This record gives sequence, C-alpha cells and structure tokens, in this order.
Amino acid sequence: MIMVNDDRLSSVYQSVKTLYDDDYTGHGWDHIERVQRLALKIAGIENEGNESLIRLLVYLHDAGDAKLHNDQRAADEFLMNTISQAGFNESETQLLISECGAIGFSKGKIPETVEGRIVQDADRLDAIGAVGIARAFTYGAVKRNAFYSEHLPEDTVIQHFYDKLLTLRDRMNTKTAIKIAHERHRFMEQFIGQFIKEWNGRK
Ligand code: ADP
Ligand code: NI
Repeated sequence: MIMVNDDRLSSVYQSVKTLYDDDYTGHGWDHIERVQRLALKIAGIENEGNESLIRLLVYLHDAGDAKLHNDQRAADEFLMNTISQAGFNESETQLLISECGAIGFSKGKIPETVEGRIVQDADRLDAIGAVGIARAFTYGAVKRNAFYSEHLPEDTVIQHFYDKLLTLRDRMNTKTAIKIAHERHRFMEQFIGQFIKEWNGRK
C-alpha cells in the first residue's frame, strides 16, 4: 500500500521537473504530460486505479533511467533520493522502485499494481502512433542515426520500429490501451509503407 498525498506528490514533482526539462531524447516534460493524460484517461475508462498514485508513477517512471544521468548508479541514487525526500517509508520505497523498474520496456516485466500497469500502457502508447514516430526521429537526430538503410539491421530510426515500436501493440495490459494501440499501430504501418516506397522512388 502506497500513501500518496499532495505534499508527497509536489515534492516528487519539484524533484523530477528539472530533470525532464533538460532532456531532448524522448523523455522531456512533454512526454510526462502526455503519459499523465493518457494514463488518467485509461484509468477513467477502465474505472480503476488511484489517481494520485498514477500521477506519482508517471513522474517517477523515467527518473531512474540512466539516459537522464551520467550512469546507472547516479540514476538509482536520484530515484532513491527523490522518493526519500518525499517522506515515503521503507516498504513504500521498495514498491515504488520495483514498479518504476517494471514499467520500462527493456525489463520485460509487468508491474504489480494496477496503477503501474496503467502507466506502463500509457508510456508504451506514447512511443507509438504519430507522436511515437516524432519521438523516434528526434531520438535518431540526437544520436545521429540515419533515417533508414537498405542493409537491415543497422542502427537506423526505421530499424527501431521493427525492434521495438511495432511490438508494443501486443504488450498492452488494459483493454482501453489495446484499442488505442491498434489504431496507432495501423498508422505506423501505413507510415513505414509510404516511407519505404518514397525512399525507393516508387511513390
Ligand atoms: P520509454 O522508456 O519512455 O518508453 P525509451 O527510453 O526506450 O522510452 O526511449 C525514449 C524514446 O526514444 C521513445 O519514443 C523511443 O521509441 C525512442 N528511441 C529509443 N531508442 C531509439 C532508437 N534506437 N532509435 C529511435 N528512437 C529510439
Ligand atoms: Ni517514459
């Protein structure tokens, strides 16, 4: 059981806001706001989940990502400090850290709490569809990766669709997210089809 009140929520908000404000690889504050809107929408439709805990997990879910820090140790420390400054007790802290670890795609885990599963869905939905395409190309630009190469698999933006983005539709937890994911998935398939035709001079 995690007790979330306004003081704790605003303490966490203050701590993470500047972290996300500085990021241009797909974890900007705009990502946090979209994930929050989507997660609360899913929770409303599914009629499940505590709103404050959803907000808390949205704020925290990428705060321990090494990409936003110098290394994984610094990232773990930041997440731990943010949680402890907000006054969570030992067992709440453990659960929050494990939920944040589970939400990320790379771990291949399903969060324990319904709030965690909803935030995981919202985070994954933000990686697909039109916004997902924009985020992928932004990430590619920051990393200086090419759009596309005929010699797959190379580290290109289009390759990332096959490696990750086109697999997300089948990894949603809630019915509401599955529905949204289907629409966004179709849009990405259409985009890639058109992209490759244009690339090859067939359109
Ligand atoms: P999150 O954990 O928030 O879902 P990631 O840390 O995996 O996201 O990535 C942040 C954003 O950058 C996502 O939109 C993701 O699709 C994109 N991204 C990550 N790796 C690549 C890559 N190699 N090429 C293009 N986009 C990428
Ligand atoms: Ni995220």
